[in-house]
Amino acid sequence: MTAVPQIVAHRGASHDHPEHTLAAYEQAIADGADALECDVRLTADGRLVCLHDRRVERTSDGRGAVSALTLAQLDALDFGSWKGGGAGPAQVLAFDELLALATSAGRPVELAVETKHPTRWAGRVERELVRQLSLFGLHRTRLGERPRVRLMSFSRLALRRMAALAPDLPRVLLTERAPLPGRAAALPRGVRIAGPGIELVRSRPEIVTRLLAAGHQVHVWTVDDPEDVELCVRLGVHALITNRPAQVRAQLAAV
Ligand code: G3P
Ligand code: CA
Repeated sequence: MTAVPQIVAHRGASHDHPEHTLAAYEQAIADGADALECDVRLTADGRLVCLHDRRVERTSDGRGAVSALTLAQLDALDFGSWKGGGAGPAQVLAFDELLALATSAGRPVELAVETKHPTRWAGRVERELVRQLSLFGLHRTRLGERPRVRLMSFSRLALRRMAALAPDLPRVLLTERAPLPGRAAALPRGVRIAGPGIELVRSRPEIVTRLLAAGHQVHVWTVDDPEDVELCVRLGVHALITNRPAQVRAQLAAV
């Protein structure tokens, strides 16, 4: 029997809603996503917010780098209307608001949190992330319990920092173009999950096979196309990170 992969909503249900907004995450939960993916950045006043880009221009009506704006300044911007298609204004989502949402969903909803910009803040992002998680009791896992949170980065340095701060939490090494060799030694020590982009999986599926044979988990992003879903299921990956959780859930239900 083919194992059904976990569905992870990439920036929320971000195909239909402005990414990283409350509406996108509420929709993802309603769509039955098993986990919510989120990028975190630090504001000028040291608050963690859910945003992907270094600057706010693409997803808001404001200007400037996230790191140069305070949370109050970000709060004054509209992060919704850029999406069009009926999406109204939306505020930036602070990371603690996402934690509150995920922990009050009425069912277990996991979090896959990616830190951006590992070098700028010399570890402050990771420290603040783990501090925020600890306020919700999510920074550690009790024996026998499935971890509710996993930490992701393209940066091995960021993963090492997170390992020191929250050793219980699984870590995911993301990779875009550089092929991940399939040997166990290819992932940094203590990292058991590889996060390749779908282009890499399409062009080098044998990498996934080798990682799985070595006992690693494989979480693939961003899997929106039904053919890609099919490929990932055939390969036996553990998680599909998608902008379209409802569509992927419907497809998996038919597997
Ligand atoms: O989930 C991993 C994926 O989000 C990495 O790429 O650019 O969307 O953060 P990006
Ligand atoms: Ca991401």
